[in-house]
Amino acid sequence: MHLLVTGGAGFIGSNFVHHVLEHTDARVTVLDAMTYAASPAALAGLSQERVRVVQGDVADADLVSGLVAQLTGPDDAVVHYAAESHNDNSLRDPSPFIRTNIIGTYTLLEAVRQHGVRLHHISTDEVYGDLELDDPDKFTEHTAYRPSSPYSASKASADHLVRAWVRSFDVRATLSNCSNNYGPWQHVEKFIPRQITNVLSGGRVKLYGAGANVRDWIHADDHSSAVLCILERGEQGQTYLIGADGERSNLEVVRLILSLMGHDADDFDHVTDRAGHDLRYAIDATRIREELGWRPGFRDFEEGLQRTIDWYADHRAWWEPAKQSVEQSYARQGQ
Ligand code: NAD
Ligand code: TYD
Repeated sequence: MHLLVTGGAGFIGSNFVHHVLEHTDARVTVLDAMTYAASPAALAGLSQERVRVVQGDVADADLVSGLVAQLTGPDDAVVHYAAESHNDNSLRDPSPFIRTNIIGTYTLLEAVRQHGVRLHHISTDEVYGDLELDDPDKFTEHTAYRPSSPYSASKASADHLVRAWVRSFDVRATLSNCSNNYGPWQHVEKFIPRQITNVLSGGRVKLYGAGANVRDWIHADDHSSAVLCILERGEQGQTYLIGADGERSNLEVVRLILSLMGHDADDFDHVTDRAGHDLRYAIDATRIREELGWRPGFRDFEEGLQRTIDWYADHRAWWEPAKQSVEQSYARQGQ
């Protein structure tokens, strides 16, 4: 098997590359533009016989077509992670989100159509908008799309393109929409790494608004195992929601990080809330569990979080160079 993994130098894509190398015999070509969000270090030391890294833009039609043309085996596939991925950035400047997430996905769809190659498209639960705190129904594969931010609207657009190419052009594709990931190599602009690295660098933990917003946390390793499971056993044209029953309010997460790091759980600042801030995400993962037999490996969020804290404490040289400019940018927004 030969996989083309777009965005394979990012937080979740690089985790998937490691997972594939560990659990299959596949060869991997990574296509990544190496934006600010990429971590080439996450791919360092991997077998050069099995992993090739190509720096380039997923919206570059000639480059993408040339790479997709090399996928000639029956099980070869493109796994499409490349995206602009941070909501707060999409509020400051939506333009790269439109280009990478929508035009990039369109470019890839045209290439897999031309060469008859399978695609697995990585998406997010944020395309469904948000739930009330007491809503008994979680997101399912049948929930209507109702994105709130430029980021989630661009991901929703990409999902619609994939489905249209499946229906109109018989492109072989599967989709997955996953909940919030945490784990090693996540950029310090994101919620959990931002708070951990704030504590590690002697700064203050920053909670948007009252912190009642709920996210459904899943470890990136479990996202990777679910995607591999869909590649191996998923039904063409089908969408799978990926989640691990990890609902926590932001306030709970902040208090847990502070206590695990030996600080007073109330030692944080409330800062300006995000515009249009989604209240709650929650995934009903019945389909992938029952139809494909997938199960998450991380059962205990507290343990996963402790391991993530330890990882950031051990990898200062990786995150410190990005930290100051990220905090300056948040400070300009009162966050
Ligand atoms: P990330 O920002 O850490 O990584 C994105 C990667 O894509 C980076 O390596 C970047 O260099 C690359 N990239 C960006 N623009 C590109 C372009 N034009 N061409 C080629 N490469 C480009 O993001 P992530 O958190 O790893 O998310 C990966 C995917 O998973 C995204 O599609 C995202 O929507 C989806 N997702 C993320 C989460 C989450 O919690 N982070 C949850 C569900 C789904
Ligand atoms: P984030 O990691 O940006 O993921 P998403 O927007 O995709 O859910 O944020 C997770 C939650 O944490 C979200 O409700 C916003 C909130 N948040 C804070 O409270 N403080 C912060 O410093 C950041 C970055 C996010």
